[in-house]
Amino acid sequence: MTRESWQTRIGFILAAVGSAVGLGNLWRFPWMTSENGGAAFLLVYLGIVLAVGVPGLLAEFVIGRRSRRNPVGALSDLSDSKGWTAFGHVFVVTAVVLLSFYSVVGGWILRYVAASATGAYFADPGAYFAGIDYGIEAVAFHLAFLGATAAIVLRGVRRGIESATKLMMPAILVLLVGLAAWGLSLDGAGAGVDFFLTPDFGYLRANFLDILPAAAGQALFTLSLGAGTMVTYASYLGEDRSLVADGTAIATLNTVVGVLAGVVVFPILFALGAGAGAGGPGALFVSLAGAFAALPYGQVVGVAFFGVVALAALSSSISMLEIPVSFLVDEYGVSRPTATASFVGVFAVTGSVCALYPNVFSFVAGTLVDLLLTGGLVGFLLFAGWVMGRGALDEYRRGAGGLARSLATPWLYAVGVVIPVFLVFTFVSGVAAALGVTVEPLSVLGVTLDQTRVFAVVSVALAVVAFLGLRRPDSVL
Ligand code: TRP
Repeated sequence: MTRESWQTRIGFILAAVGSAVGLGNLWRFPWMTSENGGAAFLLVYLGIVLAVGVPGLLAEFVIGRRSRRNPVGALSDLSDSKGWTAFGHVFVVTAVVLLSFYSVVGGWILRYVAASATGAYFADPGAYFAGIDYGIEAVAFHLAFLGATAAIVLRGVRRGIESATKLMMPAILVLLVGLAAWGLSLDGAGAGVDFFLTPDFGYLRANFLDILPAAAGQALFTLSLGAGTMVTYASYLGEDRSLVADGTAIATLNTVVGVLAGVVVFPILFALGAGAGAGGPGALFVSLAGAFAALPYGQVVGVAFFGVVALAALSSSISMLEIPVSFLVDEYGVSRPTATASFVGVFAVTGSVCALYPNVFSFVAGTLVDLLLTGGLVGFLLFAGWVMGRGALDEYRRGAGGLARSLATPWLYAVGVVIPVFLVFTFVSGVAAALGVTVEPLSVLGVTLDQTRVFAVVSVALAVVAFLGLRRPDSVL
């Protein structure tokens, strides 16, 4: 059986943008921004997308296109090593973890499309959300969302994913631009725009080290990095166009949608006097939904807004389901329908657990996802930099233009050395925070090291050990 592939290059780009654009842009991004100082956060986040996101995206693309395999098969084929094959299975776990909580939020969104039409939450948005967020109805809506996801993946790469995202992406953009124009026209919208787009440099300087990991986590999540989604999508590329051009286009479009989402959400929140503080995880469902209730044509705006979010969530969830499906199809020769059905069975259960137990949901959606994605991306980066080495450079250069080619070697250094050290640092800090570990200042050779510096030293040491362990004849570094 020949392996599936994208019909067109633009089909691949839109599918990848569809994966990237999702709840990360519309729900998580405004929430993170409001908790981390507004425009100050935006600035750091944009820097990380450019410095970490784009090179990371290219690493996943290079691995996927070179191997033409799912993440497990890719690491296995390109390394011929049992260790990497075993590590590859982590991505199947990551996919399960991701879609389990994502599908629950997707279910809430589906419900809110309907509830906006009838105005069900208009009287008391807070109480309405608290009544539906977890429980048996949340399970039902999660299953509905999962069903929609499966229906697309079942149809395959071209007839399913590619044709669906080709319709969804333009629809999302048009609706968002319309909503942003409407939001900006509200009285008092200016304060929201200010909060979102005018950085407070004093805040930035004082909180830089707290903003950094939050911005890094957000950048990975929104670009769908660290789970093997982008490896999988690039593995369906039949032609040798420039991965650099495609990756840049994908990251840019994703950023545009994130910024547009902020321009929709913050003016509406500020115009209604809710302020940024109302921007937590329930922001979409409580503050923003409450704003729709108070505004003229609220029902129409509500359906349009939650409709956009539903489309965006669906075009991402299919990319999560595609990871384990491609794994079963490639590695075990299972048919696509059987593979899809098997994993839908798994997700039906794991997602229901998230829909029933708020504590499980929070842990999975927060700490667990952050750590798995960071660790997963470090794995891909080290793999491209040290195991593939020369092969990664060749693949990067295939189809690339002059400017991109001249950046090939710097890219390999970034991917093999600089970015892993940075991500290991955020990983170590994240684990310490999750376990509640704090480190007393240490004095070494007369230099006092505070916790941040201790973690930095530990990260560099860990990275160096990894580099030495991974060196192979093909490593250019
Ligand atoms: N990027 C998507 C969003 O912003 C979520 C997503 C899809 C994802 N596939 C992923 C996140 C893989 C991490 C890894 O909503």
